[in-house]
Amino acid sequence: MAVGLFDSGLGGLTVLGAIEQALPDVPLVYLGDNAHAPYGVRDAEDIYRLTKGHVQYLWDDGCDLVILACNTASAAALRRMQEEGVPRGKRVLGVFVPLIEALTERQWGDNSPPREVAVKHVALFATPATVSSRAFQRELAFRAIGVDVEAQACGGVVDAIEEGDMILAEALVRSHVDALRRKMPEPEAAVLGCTHYPLMQDVFQQALGPSVRVFSQPDLVAASLSDYLGRHPGMIGEGQERRFLTTGDPVRVSDRATQFLRRQITFDAA
Ligand code: DGL
Repeated sequence: MAVGLFDSGLGGLTVLGAIEQALPDVPLVYLGDNAHAPYGVRDAEDIYRLTKGHVQYLWDDGCDLVILACNTASAAALRRMQEEGVPRGKRVLGVFVPLIEALTERQWGDNSPPREVAVKHVALFATPATVSSRAFQRELAFRAIGVDVEAQACGGVVDAIEEGDMILAEALVRSHVDALRRKMPEPEAAVLGCTHYPLMQDVFQQALGPSVRVFSQPDLVAASLSDYLGRHPGMIGEGQERRFLTTGDPVRVSDRATQFLRRQITFDAA
């Protein structure tokens, strides 16, 4: 029926925006669990339970393919859900792999053994739950060797964005970049490992300086999805609908979403 996009809150809208640009004809249903955001301060079991329930909701709603447009959900739940097995004809994919493929300059689905890559010092900015899962480092180790990753848990940034307090979010980003630099003074690349952070991408880039290449997920995920749907056209679904669902207050969430995407977005209650 449509491709489902799931995030703990508003961050996945950054991915949705890029998918709309790359694939304007693909029907999309967005589900934000704003009632339980942020996920990044929850334990792995809780994140798994919430993520699984909401992916099931989207499958039941008719989506065959669901993208976890949330690193925290991808880190805590994706591998476990895939290992437990998904219903026939249904798929769930995450957002780490396209990012790591870009960082390691690999093609989609290149399964050759890990090898040395150009970047050696990588800063990872993510939520506390994503950082403590070490899921990014685990996925990277399947593809690359000799990469030093320094992770910075960016406490508070998602809360500030969800509250629409961009001044606080900016101050927190700057202090997290400073903290990272104390551990790794000269990263070559920085990974924004949370789908809320592209809303602060300019602040990250400015604080890191022009010599640091910042990798951000929305365009990478959109390109990867485009490649996937080219290979699996049956997963696209029919129609051109766009629906926005939230577990939170639809009026409040619609206001924030409209502010972030700079066009009218109307959420309904999930
Ligand atoms: N956008 C989610 C992510 O990519 C935010 C997680 C949260 O709710 O803390 O990790």
